[in-house]
Amino acid sequence: MSLKFPDNFLFGAATSSYQVEGNNVNSDWWVWEETHAGLKGGPKEKSGIACDSYNRYEEDFELAKNMNHTVQRVSIEWSRIEPEEGVFNEAEIEHYAKVLDAIRSRGMKTFVTLWHFTNPKWFRDNKGWGNLKAPHYFARYSKYIAQKLGDKIDYFSTLNEPVVYITLRHLLRTWMPQKHTSILDFFDGWIGLLRGHFASYKAIKSVNENYIVGIVENVMCIEPYEETFLNRLICRIRKYLQYEIFLTLVARKTDFFGVNYYFHDVVTPQDIFINQRSIETATERNDWGWEIYPEGIYHVVKEVAKFKKPIYITENGLADAKDEKREGFIVRHLYWVHKAISEGCDIRGYMHWSLLDNFEWAEGYRWKFGLIEVDRNTLERKVRPSAKTYAEICKTNEVLDELVDKYIVS
Ligand code: FCB
Repeated sequence: MSLKFPDNFLFGAATSSYQVEGNNVNSDWWVWEETHAGLKGGPKEKSGIACDSYNRYEEDFELAKNMNHTVQRVSIEWSRIEPEEGVFNEAEIEHYAKVLDAIRSRGMKTFVTLWHFTNPKWFRDNKGWGNLKAPHYFARYSKYIAQKLGDKIDYFSTLNEPVVYITLRHLLRTWMPQKHTSILDFFDGWIGLLRGHFASYKAIKSVNENYIVGIVENVMCIEPYEETFLNRLICRIRKYLQYEIFLTLVARKTDFFGVNYYFHDVVTPQDIFINQRSIETATERNDWGWEIYPEGIYHVVKEVAKFKKPIYITENGLADAKDEKREGFIVRHLYWVHKAISEGCDIRGYMHWSLLDNFEWAEGYRWKFGLIEVDRNTLERKVRPSAKTYAEICKTNEVLDELVDKYIVS
């Protein structure tokens, strides 16, 4: 049995500006690195030159093209475009115009995120997403991008994983924690990001109503350990708080949902809090210890399909330095994506995280998520074997029999 995907289905990979470009010196994350890297509660490493993709993007996209990708997800670094409040940098617009041309001239669609976790310093100094004017600032930047680069952008995504970001900053306090932060900052930021999406959506549409504008969320697969009333209730509450309220509110104003799928959680009454797990059910884990649970992607897209919007898988991948699990990971996740499509889910693309090994936020460079390996000393790129298998899938739009037989136990 081979798995054929719909004709226009997009296959590709994802990156984000801060994680690959290097030297994003006007960003708030850079400030945190400068002041806290290596210290307790700080990021493990500085991002430094990252993959130097700011300069090497042609090489990166040439590799993606040679791997038959038909879409490339990238992000634009707000702090480069607007390094000071209200001051826009034309030279950086020209830079991103070249980046987007480099993707499109190689026959790939551009999937562009406007905000992938990092803010300009001035925005941070102005209370960040907790400022009532934050949505206005973000919309002004979004509009500028739409005006200057809109004709090179096939898909706009306003925000990446807003709920994850605000949770890590103000509830779990692992990302850029401030001395005084409270649950109120969490709510302010949550609402600021929601309003930011609406304002950005409106601003982009005011430039051209035909532009396709969506949002990317991390959707966890949350299941009860046993089918008891209490377990099911906790699942419901967790789903609701972790993604459903946000998606429900956004659904009024989005052209699609981007889904990032990484996590599975099996809950009992002891697991009320995020990332807790009292009972071990995982059979396989990646280098970072995250459970590998391909079936979860099916449950997750089924949940998101309730909103009746097109779905793109905007991230799915694993830390696997030895590349031992990546091929099977991709095939098995695609099996479940295909099953959801065959049952009527409108899924239009799959973007693997990531094109390159890159800067994994507070963790630094330790985890290797790339289809392409990047040597940290020379920055030399080397395509991993699993990426070659994925390239065959991208080329034929199909997962061939032998791979299905190898990885799918029916
Ligand atoms: C996602 C982020 C992405 C990357 C992966 C591993 O939550 O969007 O930038 O860090 O996790």
